Amino acid sequence: MQNLIENIDFLNENELMREEVKTTADHNSGNKRKLYIESYGCQMNFSDSEIVASILHKEGFDTTSDIAEADLIFLNTCSIREKAEQTVRNRLNHINGLKKKKPEMMVGVLGCMAERLKTKLLEEEKIVDLVAGPDAYRDLPNLISQVDDGSKAVNTFLSREETYADISPVRLNSNGVTAFISIMRGCDNMCSFCVVPFTRGRERSRNPQSIVAEAQDLFDRGYREVTLLGQNVDSYKWSEEENNKARLEKKEVNEIVHFADLLERVAQIHPDLRVRFSTSHPKDITDNVLHTMAKYENICKNIHLPVQSGSSRVLELMSRGYSREWYLDRVKSIRNILGEECGITSDMIAGFCTETEAEHQETLSLMEKVQYDFSFMFFYSERPGTLAAKKYSDDIEVDVKKRRLDEIIKKQTELSNNRNQLDLNKIHRVLIEGYSKRSSDFLQGRNSANKVVIFPRGNKKKGEYVNVYVESCSSATLFGKIVA
Ligand code: SAH
Ligand code: SF4
Ligand code: F3S
Repeated sequence: MQNLIENIDFLNENELMREEVKTTADHNSGNKRKLYIESYGCQMNFSDSEIVASILHKEGFDTTSDIAEADLIFLNTCSIREKAEQTVRNRLNHINGLKKKKPEMMVGVLGCMAERLKTKLLEEEKIVDLVAGPDAYRDLPNLISQVDDGSKAVNTFLSREETYADISPVRLNSNGVTAFISIMRGCDNMCSFCVVPFTRGRERSRNPQSIVAEAQDLFDRGYREVTLLGQNVDSYKWSEEENNKARLEKKEVNEIVHFADLLERVAQIHPDLRVRFSTSHPKDITDNVLHTMAKYENICKNIHLPVQSGSSRVLELMSRGYSREWYLDRVKSIRNILGEECGITSDMIAGFCTETEAEHQETLSLMEKVQYDFSFMFFYSERPGTLAAKKYSDDIEVDVKKRRLDEIIKKQTELSNNRNQLDLNKIHRVLIEGYSKRSSDFLQGRNSANKVVIFPRGNKKKGEYVNVYVESCSSATLFGKIVA
């Protein structure tokens, strides 16, 4: 999911891992106990860490970016691929060393790995004191006091209702310009390779008023871009059932709100507030959403539409709910309604169970047809408990998976270059996010299609919009100069 499109030079990466790590920034308001939190996996997890920080702030914890001064260390974890879990295990080993020097330090595992492994984590990783799944964060104060009293604490209860709608996140690592807003939780799709429905539970949508209020508040505080997050934003639905519940509780009642309606409401907050969203699902994305995007200048023209495979037979085995032809038809609609300029990005899995060489070629040919701007690319990693693990054999040799992945990465690099060429000698509207990573003489921001644009600073600063004339590019970045 998520537009994690960072300025990555993926020629240097064997596997484009989404398992990047983010640690907390300092947030000091004189509280006594210090929380250090590290987030792995997707943007939903990063967003959840901000909810956790908010809940614990009220309990007397400030966040710190210095692990050595922490009283409480949280790893907010990811289970999507085996490698993601291995990364966390290695990190816990390292933290074990710290805990030997400071035994009173509390160590907790949150997120998807906590949900998947539950109490096993306490047995396997002896240093872990606390385990909390994605729907159990309101219980953290209670879990922490159990640990304070000398016992281990676990809550991995998955909820059908929890959306943390009323919790105002403490923005961690914020550039003060862009922020993420979770609009739903869980996933009901049950793609056969995917662990998310097991770790995040049933899909539920968050109350639209609380989403709009959060976006408005961010805008009022100077933020200029929000990304609406969900595993499948196209199935966002604030339903009658919820309205009925509201009626019983004598609250205000709304009609049914679909994703296109929500998008429109957020876009109407202010023309200077950019709106992005992720992830769209090929089986559910509607023309309605595309028309809403076309109607509002401030809804960014970029769609993350993960295809996973270009072969209809493999897609069927993956239980994705669409065929190659259906997918290509959706892309045609995007091009018809939003034009050639709209960015399209994807996720790809190489070497799924029984995938033949010809089917792999179909993935490459689909990529060529769509002309993706960017993709996150992985080789298949079997996850315990999923339908694929139970029903199909993980029969593609690792060497073959890696070779196919390399071919996919090579293809994507070529396509990214093609697409960036089309951006040359044009003016792009860029929202400035801060200094470029290499030099404070340069600023960086993104264009509507979510591409990183770097240009000499002039007298501009972050949070402002500028027009940039793009003169050159690499496969991951556009370079240019500010024009009037
Ligand atoms: N909800 C999003 C995906 C979230 S997971 C969607 O449906 O598109 C992010 C990506 O991780 C997936 O799109 C997929 O490409 C990859 N992924 C998920 N499970 C995987 C597995 N078992 N092995 C390899 N890649 C996997
Ligand atoms: Fe996983 Fe499929 Fe749900 Fe995406 S839509 S999170 S791939 S089950
Ligand atoms: Fe996200 Fe990883 Fe969980 S991708 S939903 S943190 S398994």
